[in-house]
Amino acid sequence: MTTQPTDPGKRTAITSAADIDLNDWDFWGRPDEEREHAFRLLRDLDKPAFFPEPEFSLGGVTGPGYHALVRHADILEASRNPEVFCSGDGGATNIPDLPAEFAEYFGSMINMDDPRHARLRRIVSRAFTPKMIKQFESDVDAAASRIVDELLETGPGCDFVTEVAARLPLKIICDMMGIPEKDYRFVFDRSNIVLGATDPEYVSERADIAHALLTAGMELQQLVQDLAALRMETPTDDLTSSLVNANIDGERLTAQELGSFFILLVVAGNETTRNAISHGMRLLTVNPEQRRLWLEDFEGRAPRAIEEIVRLAAPVNYMRRKVTRDHEMNGNLYRKGEKVLLYYWAANRDERVFDDPLRFDIRRDPNPHVGFGGPGPHFCLGAHLARREITAMFRELLRRVPQIEAGEPERLLSSFINGIKHMTCEF
Ligand code: HEM
Repeated sequence: MTTQPTDPGKRTAITSAADIDLNDWDFWGRPDEEREHAFRLLRDLDKPAFFPEPEFSLGGVTGPGYHALVRHADILEASRNPEVFCSGDGGATNIPDLPAEFAEYFGSMINMDDPRHARLRRIVSRAFTPKMIKQFESDVDAAASRIVDELLETGPGCDFVTEVAARLPLKIICDMMGIPEKDYRFVFDRSNIVLGATDPEYVSERADIAHALLTAGMELQQLVQDLAALRMETPTDDLTSSLVNANIDGERLTAQELGSFFILLVVAGNETTRNAISHGMRLLTVNPEQRRLWLEDFEGRAPRAIEEIVRLAAPVNYMRRKVTRDHEMNGNLYRKGEKVLLYYWAANRDERVFDDPLRFDIRRDPNPHVGFGGPGPHFCLGAHLARREITAMFRELLRRVPQIEAGEPERLLSSFINGIKHMTCEF
């Protein structure tokens, strides 16, 4: 396994599935077109490719390896069957099992199975119903409008990711939780470390990744636990307050549960939405006819346009499951203890399901993408909020800066997050 991507000029071409190593960082440094070609080769195999566990480990036990699920049908089936394809037992957000010391910070509901998962999801989901999100609408719209005011003041040439895309989800999550504005930067930097730890911009030495993750986790947990102590004394109407004070059913989160839920929220809600907005801006730049279509009827076309952005952006590249018993699915055998990776990015390009899958088509219908996860207990809790935020951002941008164009994206080096770190914009 290489630790840095090879110089693009020296890369060998991928001509068959045998040339693909999903554990190789160099693979994740390749441009989109090469990845698209590679995942198509993997989708066309008779059965999912199997890879050994990566050499990189967080210090836990090395497992037997993983099947790369790249077809839409396999991802739907595995997501619907959590008794066989579980999220607990080592975690859903990582290929190597999470060692015990990570559970304190990263042992949130995304890495659990029912009944523990169901209990937590029940407690926190009250904040994420469409009705609750509706109450946030004006805040989201006002925040998007302010970001565009400041973009217009800063002028062209600025970094779209840090000046525009990153700011809306960060502000909304911090506001929901009651985190004051002075701490936004602190949260932003730590969430970059948690999801960008494999990129040298965020953690310079690979050997330091485990330490950097634990430190970022501890600092985020401390921030929210300090806030929780205040809210237990004097409740307010923010989410932290409602999570640490018992609800009408007498349920509330413990300090550890609150800490790991907050870490989940800031990483799941920030990076993903930020990357959807950045990829969306790039897609609208390289497909000017789609921008024109959207401008003709912004509100009418927004719902489908947003789904199409999330389909192609697929900000979460994969989630992991562990096989709990020998099981046959779509004609292939999965053995107890093996892992499967649900490659949403690849499934969203499955030509068995999507016509002309690489085409960005803001009117695509139907669009059964799995960008927010497959059907099952872990389907994205923040999907309504994310849709709302992406819509608000593009409404402001396309109305007030309709000529805005994105430059070449600088990609995050990660197999997990399909991220853009920096991207200039001109208008
Ligand atoms: C475009 C934006 C987003 C994308 C692409 C996205 C993607 C995903 C995916 C793929 C999962 C499935 C995990 C699994 O099946 O193992 C997930 C779960 C989750 N997402 Fe999102 N997400 C987005 C925005 C958000 C936002 C804004 C929030 C909250 C503020 C959020 C909170 C969560 C939580 C809490 C879970 C775990 C649910 C559970 O385990 O029951 N997400 N998300």
